[in-house]
Amino acid sequence: MTAQLDPRGDVAVLVPAAGAGVRLGAGGPKALRLLGGEPLLVHAIRRVASAPSVSAIVVAAPPPDVEAVRSLLAPVAPVIVVAGGAERQESVAAALAAVPRGPDIILVHDAARALAPSALVESVAAAVRAGSAAVIPVLPVVDTVKEVDAKGVVLGTVDRSVLRAVQTPQGFRRSILAAAHASAAASLTDDAGLVEKQGVPVTCVPGHEHALKITRPFDLAVAELLLDQAQ
Ligand code: C5P
Repeated sequence: MTAQLDPRGDVAVLVPAAGAGVRLGAGGPKALRLLGGEPLLVHAIRRVASAPSVSAIVVAAPPPDVEAVRSLLAPVAPVIVVAGGAERQESVAAALAAVPRGPDIILVHDAARALAPSALVESVAAAVRAGSAAVIPVLPVVDTVKEVDAKGVVLGTVDRSVLRAVQTPQGFRRSILAAAHASAAASLTDDAGLVEKQGVPVTCVPGHEHALKITRPFDLAVAELLLDQAQ
């Protein structure tokens, strides 16, 4: 059944999905790999679309697959699909340019975090609505972390109590994200990094274990288990 988005919602979600997925092994763009028989992107969009605050969703697809992604998502939710770029940041910028007027809160999500629950979408959006300019969901780091040199010799042990692993969706006041992308020089792996460079404070909210990033075959196996558990 196609989800309906509420036009009164104040949140637009950008979903960069144009990555090649090389670390997942051969088999085409990562967002279109199957999890429980459905593409990762379909799982991600279904969860985003069921968050009540979301009024618009923009997906950046691999350029050759734009039409295929439009057809794939048409039965899932009303989604705008644009062509992504060579780097994630370019894909996000392309999606940002296609956001309709209206929503004042922009969330940037990864198609690769296909099982991020809609409650996480809402909690990030709520923190922006409550006054934070930029919000990231985080988890504590459980492993001991070492700094090493190029030869693999340990230089030191990092105090993990001050470290956090960062997930998506990351949330922003629209004007803040637009300004960060407009002045972006170097390519960074997340959007909060761009905003930090502008001197804007970034606030943390609790992340969710199901929002794991599906990068390697092991992650896909874990996601299959989570999906089975949920059924
Ligand atoms: O490569 P990485 O795992 O960091 O990608 C994170 C997300 O960014 C994925 O959903 C991927 O599809 C997307 N991406 C993109 N355009 C690129 C590279 C990655 O939309 N050129």
